[in-house]
Amino acid sequence: RPRVLSGIQPTAGSFHLGNYLGAVRQYVALQEANDAFYMVVDLHAITVPQDPAELRANTRVSAAQLLAAGLDPDRCALFVQSHVPEHAQLGWVMNCLTGFGEASRMTQFKDKSAKQGTDTTTVGLFTYPILQVADILLYQANAVPVGEDQRQHLELTRDLAQRFNSRYGATFTVPEAYIVKETAKIVDLQDPTIKMSKSASSPKGIVNLLDPPNQTAKKIKSAVTDTGTEVRYDEKEKPGVSNLLAIHSAVSGTPVAELEQRFAGRMYGDFKKEVAEVLVDFVTPFQERFHLYHDDPAELDRTLAKGAAKAREVASVTLASAYDRIGLLPPA
Ligand code: TYM
Repeated sequence: RPRVLSGIQPTAGSFHLGNYLGAVRQYVALQEANDAFYMVVDLHAITVPQDPAELRANTRVSAAQLLAAGLDPDRCALFVQSHVPEHAQLGWVMNCLTGFGEASRMTQFKDKSAKQGTDTTTVGLFTYPILQVADILLYQANAVPVGEDQRQHLELTRDLAQRFNSRYGATFTVPEAYIVKETAKIVDLQDPTIKMSKSASSPKGIVNLLDPPNQTAKKIKSAVTDTGTEVRYDEKEKPGVSNLLAIHSAVSGTPVAELEQRFAGRMYGDFKKEVAEVLVDFVTPFQERFHLYHDDPAELDRTLAKGAAKAREVASVTLASAYDRIGLLPPA
């Protein structure tokens, strides 16, 4: 069976709608026909300062959300990145294969470090995409479900896999990004020119899955639209309305064209009211399932331990073969 891998950061606690529609929904769909590996990337999270107690708590919160979203630990391996030491180990190997200039071209790093300034930006943030490369290659993943903002990191992954393979012989599967166009970039509700993001969005611009549902409804109703009146999908002229159409369509399963027809000649207010309803109907049972998983940390930790064991079976084989290829002397 084809292999799939993806990861999500535990930094904010709650996932937002961009995380869910851009990535997590695809994790759930892909676990059916693939050998799937999904992880909470705590090692990526510490590239920026984290409060230790919060990081630990948010790691469980993240895992419980992945279960609530529909990941089935009998079908996929659900684990915490730091529970599988091979990530850090192959990460080092990949560091030694990456050009400094190549790493310097990563736009996410450039954006984030420009905001933070060089004194507080860590070397870990700089090499972050290289750890991500190791995450993916360890599982010989064929496909990696992600949002549009991860495309460049997937390109780096392909480049490094190919470089390693041509230098040392076929070792790694060269993966493809799995990006669903319609929801690849959910934008900020208050500023539709930027993506919805844990770090950049204002509280009113971001819908968190664990927000109280009435707050989510309010945020949708006060989302920025435009001066026109037509409910029509047009990313350039109507980015705010288009974003709401994409959200409604993805969550309700109604094609965008059908929504445009349904709201022809009606007001933005009517449309937003329905988007809010669709979301409330989604997050309410999601939060119930989340609490079920989150309120039983012992069971949750057992699930994660089982996932890590499954992951290590694959990761240890890949790491051993990579170590062997590059000439590291195996321990006697
Ligand atoms: P992270 O935690 O920032 O985001 C998790 C996933 O959500 C997607 N996403 C979005 N999709 C659509 N619209 C948005 N506004 C939006 N915001 C976020 C992201 O593209 C991502 O798929 N570097 C990764 C984590 C990672 C990873 C990996 C991913 C670490 N190792 C290996 C894949 C494979 C990150 O920071 O995602």
